[in-house]
Formats: sequence, structure tokens, C-alpha cells
Amino acid sequence: METTIIKDLKKFEEKKVTLKGWLTNKRSGKGLEFLILRDGTGYIQCIVNEEEVKPEVFELAKALSQESSIEISGLIVKDERQVGGYEMQVSNLNLIGEASAFPITNKAHGVEFLMDNRHLWLRSKRQWAIMKIRNRLSFAIHSFFQNDGFVQMDAPLFTGNAVEGTSTLFETEFYDETAYLSQSGQLYGEAMAMAMGKIYTFGPTFRAEKSKTRRHLSEFWMIEPEMAFFDNEMNMDLIEKFMKYILKDVKENCSFEFEILERDTKIFDQIIEGEFPRLTYDKAVRILKGQDKVDGKTTIETLENDLKNVLRSIEDSNKEIEEAESTIKGGVKKGKRNYLQNKIDTLKNEIKELEERKRIIPQWIDSANKFKYGSDLGGSDETVLTRMFDLPVMVYNWPHEIKAFYMKRDANSPDLAKGVDVLAPEGYGEIVGGGERETNLDLLIEKINEHKLPMKAFEWYLDLRRYGSVPHAGFGLGLERMVAWVCKLKHIRETIPFPRMYGRLFP
Ligand code: 4AD
Ligand code: MG
Repeated sequence: METTIIKDLKKFEEKKVTLKGWLTNKRSGKGLEFLILRDGTGYIQCIVNEEEVKPEVFELAKALSQESSIEISGLIVKDERQVGGYEMQVSNLNLIGEASAFPITNKAHGVEFLMDNRHLWLRSKRQWAIMKIRNRLSFAIHSFFQNDGFVQMDAPLFTGNAVEGTSTLFETEFYDETAYLSQSGQLYGEAMAMAMGKIYTFGPTFRAEKSKTRRHLSEFWMIEPEMAFFDNEMNMDLIEKFMKYILKDVKENCSFEFEILERDTKIFDQIIEGEFPRLTYDKAVRILKGQDKVDGKTTIETLENDLKNVLRSIEDSNKEIEEAESTIKGGVKKGKRNYLQNKIDTLKNEIKELEERKRIIPQWIDSANKFKYGSDLGGSDETVLTRMFDLPVMVYNWPHEIKAFYMKRDANSPDLAKGVDVLAPEGYGEIVGGGERETNLDLLIEKINEHKLPMKAFEWYLDLRRYGSVPHAGFGLGLERMVAWVCKLKHIRETIPFPRMYGRLFP
């Protein structure tokens, strides 16, 4: 009998195999034990029939605790209704390692509890699906760049200078010198692009963000391509091509995982086929403030309409709850009562979310109205702006004063810098930041002084402008932000195996 993995079972239809894995769930019937096995590659239901196995095997199956590791053998039969499409008729079962009472059960657990048990939580189905999608995205990212003539190069993590402002630096000691954990590999990426033409880095980056938000981590992975002889137009073309490629790839290769997450991937189709709207910062601000319309509507009108719909939904749900409650009071059979009670609970949860929207939409309207030209787009501004489009939106030509020191100034409008941010739809906001780099040595020195950065630490960077400088551009995609959006997660903490964020260093 061959030992195999769940992913490869299609080669073993009507054959006997051995699988090794963990018991993720179990239910019992008359003379039957239904064991759900997971092995990291998939899930399968294994049926232990009292009449077809030795008594000690059946006893073991009956006593098996959640997350015990086992070796299990039997006949593989096709069954479309089951997870993975196959089922095992068990002939033998061995215990490898018994599990004590597993802390994470099918009950609902609080997030803090789950985060404290992240090392075990990773075994659950949703987390498994998210990690598989993360893995596929990484793979697609590498294939895209490798197929397009980019060379992957790694930037150091110990650095002597800030890239993205000094307020989010993690300071550490490097022998007798002060060092920082890298906020971005970009400056090194620029040096490497001057050696190789087109490069990308893919590594961890660090930002001290002393607040808890749903989209900030202290340690996150960034993909940073950098291209010699690229201007910001070419940069935006590349971003769009790149994002379409990885979305298409993950959609095609992770349908089972998306099903587990109940993520409708239809929205990806129009993104893959469509054209990303490109708005100058000026235009974006006009839309945000309701001065310009999109498809005949202003943001304010759209939000007011959203609010109306929210209020109506709350009313409808409350009515449904009332009806269900009075039916229960009137007396119904147990099955029906459970059904109704379930429905009430679901509706109550929905109302909670609707109430949150009811609270927040007026705030969005208010902050959109009050937005001051020249300031950075905040999280809610991004949500309002992207609410008007179904595709990722590119905002370019930013006021140089709110962007990093290295951004290329626009020769025609000296107040603007050739940066670009990509804002994901469905309320996710910024997932890419990038732009063309300043090549004018004097302007760059001026900027470094303006930002009060230590010139000495940037001498090597300035050399790139002294020895055969060329126009160049690049961008950074935050992997976790991308995973959060693709999986439609409420919070970024589930997108990385072991999140590091404000207040969370363990496990
Ligand atoms: O916009 P940022 O700060 O840009 C840079 O770091 C440039 N040096 C990139 C480049 O041009 N090579 O960050 C880029 C992206 C953001 O759009 C976001 O997706 C992600 O990195 N990001 C974070 N993700 C999670 N947690 C945080 N604290 C993040 N900060 C930025
Ligand atoms: Mg940014």
C-alpha cells in the first residue's frame, strides 16, 4: 500500500493508500465514525465502519481527540459531495501523537484568544486557506518578474539611514553604531538597478507604528521593483500589468481556498479585463470633496445613498427578528426553533455591522467635505474615493511636500512630485506606493536637508546621481495588504503566519 498525500488522491481512485495527518473534526453515527483528516495539502472524510475494522481500530477511532496525529489506511472512493471530492473507507488506523484537549474548537473564540494561540490557530481551515493564497501570491509575484527580465536582489535589513521618514524607525545597535531596521529596500534597489537594469527585492520591512489599526503591521513583507530608464508613466503601466497578472494567477489557482473563505472572486474579472482609473492628486481631491462627479454621481450623494440603504437594512432586519421571535413565542417544534434562533443570531450580527456603518458613513462625509488640498489622503478618504470605482485607482502627481525626499519633482509643476499610490477597492485603500526618483543632485541634497536627514548617511546614495545617473522609477507592494484585500479580510493580522504589531510579540 502506498503512502500518499490528500492533494494527489485523484491518482488513487479505487485504490488502497495510507495517509498521515491530523484529525481536524469528527462525528459519530451508528457503528460509524466519520473522521475528517487534514494533512496540510487538503481535507478528506475517512469513514470507519465497526463491521469492517478490528475492534481495537474502531475503539481508537471513537476515542480519537481533535488534532491527534494519525496514520490511516483504506480504499479511496470518489464522492463529489465531500470536501476534496474523495472519501476513504478505512481499513486501519494508527495513533502517532495524541492531542490533549485542543484549545481551538468549533465554537466561536475571541480574536485575542486566537492571537495568543496563533501557533495552533494556523491549523484551522480559514487560516490554512489564507496562507495558501499568500503562498500563491508570492509565487505569482516571482514568476511575473522573473518572466519579465527582472533580477531578484536582496537589500540589507540593518541600515544606517531612514527611507520613509524618521517617525517609524526601529532603532537598534550595530556593534558600536546606531542602526535601524529597514523600512524599505528601495534606496539599495536603486543602486542595484544601476547595476542590473531591472531588479526587485522581496523581503521583510519594519515600521514602528505605535497604534492598532486594521492595516498596519510592525513587520511586513514588501516587493520592490526598481527599473532603470523608466518614468512614472511606464511605472504605472508596469504596476497595472503586474497586479492583473497576480490576480489572474491566484484566482485560477486558489478556487478551493477562496471557497473556504467565502470570497466571491467575480470582482477580479473586471479588474483583470478593465483599465485602472488614473487620477492626478488634484482630480482625486476634487472627486473626494464632491466637486467632480464619477458616472454622474458625487461622493457625497453616493455616501448619502449608502447611508439610506443601511438604515433601511437595519429596519428590515429588526422586523425579521421581531417576526421570528413572535413565531418562537407562539410555540414551534425544536428543529424550527433552532433554525429561527440561528437566523435571529445571524441577523443581530448583521445589524451590529450595519450600525457600525451607520456610525461611520457620516464621519466619512464630514471628513471628505473638510479635506484640505495639499494634505495626505487618510484611510477614510481612500475608502470614500475608491467607493466610486470597482477597480484599483492610481493617484499620481502628489504635492511634493507630503511625499518622501527621493521623489522626482515635476519640471512643469514644481509643487508636484511624480509619485503614485494604488488604492484597492472594497474599502482596502493603499496597497502600492511608488514613483519616479529624483535625479537632480542639487534638488536631492535640498530635500535631504529639508527632511533633516544626516547627509553623511546618504553620500553613497548621492553617488548614484554622480556616476551615470539615469531616469528611474519603482514601487513597493505590501504583501499583507494585498493578501487582506484578495481574501477580503477585516484585519491584516491574519495575513501573515506570526504577526508583529503594536502590543504583539508572542507567540
Ligand atoms: O508607501 P510606502 O511607504 O512606500 C515605500 O516604502 C517605497 N519605498 C516603495 C518603493 O517605491 N519602492 O510603502 C509601500 C507599501 C504600502 O503601499 C503598503 O502596501 C505597505 O507598503 N505598507 C505596509 N503594510 C503593512 N503594514 C505597514 N505598517 C505598512 N506600511 C507600508
Ligand atoms: Mg505610501
